[in-house]
Amino acid sequence: MAQYTRVSGSVGLITLQSPPVNALSAAVRQAIVDSMQRALSEPEVKSVVICGQNGLFSGGADIKEFRGQMSGPPLIPMIHAIEASSKPVVAAIEGIALGGALELALGCHYRIAHSKARVGLPEVTLGLLPGAGGSQRLPRLIGVPAALDLITTGRHVTAAEALKFGLVDQITDHNTVNVAVKFAQRVAGQPLDARRISTYPCLSPPDVDVLFEEVMQRVRRTARGAIAPIACVQAVRAAATLPYNQGMERERELMATLSTSGQTRALQYFFFAQRAVGRWSMPSGARWDTSKPRPVHKAAVIGLGTMGRGIAVALAQAGFSVVAVETQEKQLMEAKQAISGMLERGAKRRGVAPALDKINYGCNIQSVAHVDLVIEAVFEDMALKKKVFQQLSAVCKPGTFLCSNTSGLDIDQLACQTRNPELVVGMHFFAPAHVMKLLEVVYGPKSSPLAVATAMQLGKKIGKVSVAVGNCRGFVGNRMLKPYLEQALFLLEEGATPEFVDQVLEEFGFAMGVFRMSDLSGLDVGWKVRMADGLAVPNPTTGQATRLRQGRRYSPLGDLLCEQGRFGQKTGRGWYQYNKPGSQVAKPDPWLHSFLDEYRAWHALVARRIDHQEVLERCLYSMINEGFRILEDGIAAGPEDIDVIYVFGYSWPRHRGGPMFYATTVGLNKVLERLEHYHQAHPDVPSLQPCDLLRKLVASGSPPIQKWREVIKKVRSQL
Ligand code: NAI
Repeated sequence: MAQYTRVSGSVGLITLQSPPVNALSAAVRQAIVDSMQRALSEPEVKSVVICGQNGLFSGGADIKEFRGQMSGPPLIPMIHAIEASSKPVVAAIEGIALGGALELALGCHYRIAHSKARVGLPEVTLGLLPGAGGSQRLPRLIGVPAALDLITTGRHVTAAEALKFGLVDQITDHNTVNVAVKFAQRVAGQPLDARRISTYPCLSPPDVDVLFEEVMQRVRRTARGAIAPIACVQAVRAAATLPYNQGMERERELMATLSTSGQTRALQYFFFAQRAVGRWSMPSGARWDTSKPRPVHKAAVIGLGTMGRGIAVALAQAGFSVVAVETQEKQLMEAKQAISGMLERGAKRRGVAPALDKINYGCNIQSVAHVDLVIEAVFEDMALKKKVFQQLSAVCKPGTFLCSNTSGLDIDQLACQTRNPELVVGMHFFAPAHVMKLLEVVYGPKSSPLAVATAMQLGKKIGKVSVAVGNCRGFVGNRMLKPYLEQALFLLEEGATPEFVDQVLEEFGFAMGVFRMSDLSGLDVGWKVRMADGLAVPNPTTGQATRLRQGRRYSPLGDLLCEQGRFGQKTGRGWYQYNKPGSQVAKPDPWLHSFLDEYRAWHALVARRIDHQEVLERCLYSMINEGFRILEDGIAAGPEDIDVIYVFGYSWPRHRGGPMFYATTVGLNKVLERLEHYHQAHPDVPSLQPCDLLRKLVASGSPPIQKWREVIKKVRSQL
């Protein structure tokens, strides 16, 4: 709703009131329309100010309305009426003005923002465009290049940046509403023709075609198949080349296409999924709203390799005091130098002072005695980790949380090394840890809700999207990656090339195909794990690796590459070749193609033509099938957890909603049918055998994803 009052004698003040973010719901829009009519009809009122209650202008459209039929007055005519008003209207922007709210402010004649406010048009992140005139007014106000930047990225800008662009007329450190009211009094009666943005010409650079061509190419490259960023460019192009009314017509057409696309449904699902993961629960019944975290002031990181460095940076940047521990002076000094560099570069980008003094370095584990929480990031070696946990348990003050960054080892075995196993959880970061948004918080059978709540809150404080998951080999993300990688290797054995498999996956929307990604992460990492599991051993009789292990099909291709010292980018050779070790430019490698030919010949495998569909189905459906098993096992509480993990940790294309949501767009019955088909063709590959939960969901009519939890509950209660 909105409240209308008359202030300072002559100013009509419209205060948006719709907690928590004053979204522009039907009721709020109706109240704005009514209040404007009242302000225009009252002769004492000479000007109008629009603001939001509780120091917050508005978060924009009410996203819940997207799901049903729109009711109440539409935004476009409401904004046009405000712009056409004969009395000046001033937007007083505090907190945020996002999406529809900024479009509303652009319909006002003046915009005054608090210095701490942020504004933006994030519609693109929901698969839409600013469809209430935003795509037409913003370029007219701030120019084409800046508008393209804001509209195609959806990024929020600070008040200072908005002032620089000319998006707001004034910023203030004082009470914004008071300043806006005084301002409104001053401009009362002044002519408004020059203040109506829709009447402005759209100033664009002379080489506008070149500019749009370049932008379109860049956006296509980064969009990874998302259609909204492209439509955003087209809408701004309409602003730059057409009269306002025609531009609005184009905006409407583009919006109609986007709003009926599957992508916006996926992105809206994902928007809610991100919120859902914060409301975590454990099989014991412990939940986010009944488990209080304990405050953490001081944390320690043990092991300052690739991951430990990133974790220490993430903690220090968020203001935590950190004790950083390595084994030897030499490693410690190298890590210190690297961490300082990362902090300095990060601080420069953000325009703040580097948090160098937040970290104390040392080689002695005793130095962590007084911290509240420890994150262990030593080598992925169970024996070593167990030793470290024994030491930590002996050294740390009572109540210290002990966390491991292991990629998939058993958290319970680590917890058993300590005096207080209830204080042990996994905190699984993703590389680079100071950049990647995902954190899997892994609870073992003994982990207490207090420990989970504390790790989840710490994750939030350092800017991560934290997802609570159960303890199993690989947790959620890496467990699902296993069948995906495995299928990719089988496809090579059967006739595909790494380039082809990667191309299909990249066209689907992954930032990197499976082989380029493996080269980047290092092939030796998985090799060591397979050796520890007794998998990566050549057949002792023939000297050649067999293709069966423990009764299942196994591809030794990755092991054979590692035996040749081909570890990926770091050695300059892997599934691809690189100009030099460390280079990131992957080129097809003729050596690898001959190697694959020889391998197939040795194993009497006849290469066949593998098509696009088979690559996608085998890689993705086997991964999705594992996702269903994870739900069945209760390792993830719901499909949203899996989807958030895949988008933030594994570059799954967001506009496809995550693997489990994607399965609903394909149709669960089709996923089931194709898995059955492939399992029949490959009976020695258990990951292709459809799991019970998938069968049950199909048998119960493939309910919408929001209803899966009910079916999961039933399946689990029958176990
Ligand atoms: P790394 O090999 O780069 O670093 C490990 C560091 O631990 C080394 O600097 C080593 O000197 C140090 N270290 C070994 N024993 C120690 C001890 N007793 N006390 C103190 N420091 C000790 O390894 P990386 O890649 O950073 O991995 C660390 C952990 O993070 C592993 O458990 C790994 O599985 C996990 N992880 C790795 C990811 C990656 O992409 N590299 C992603 C997510 C998790």
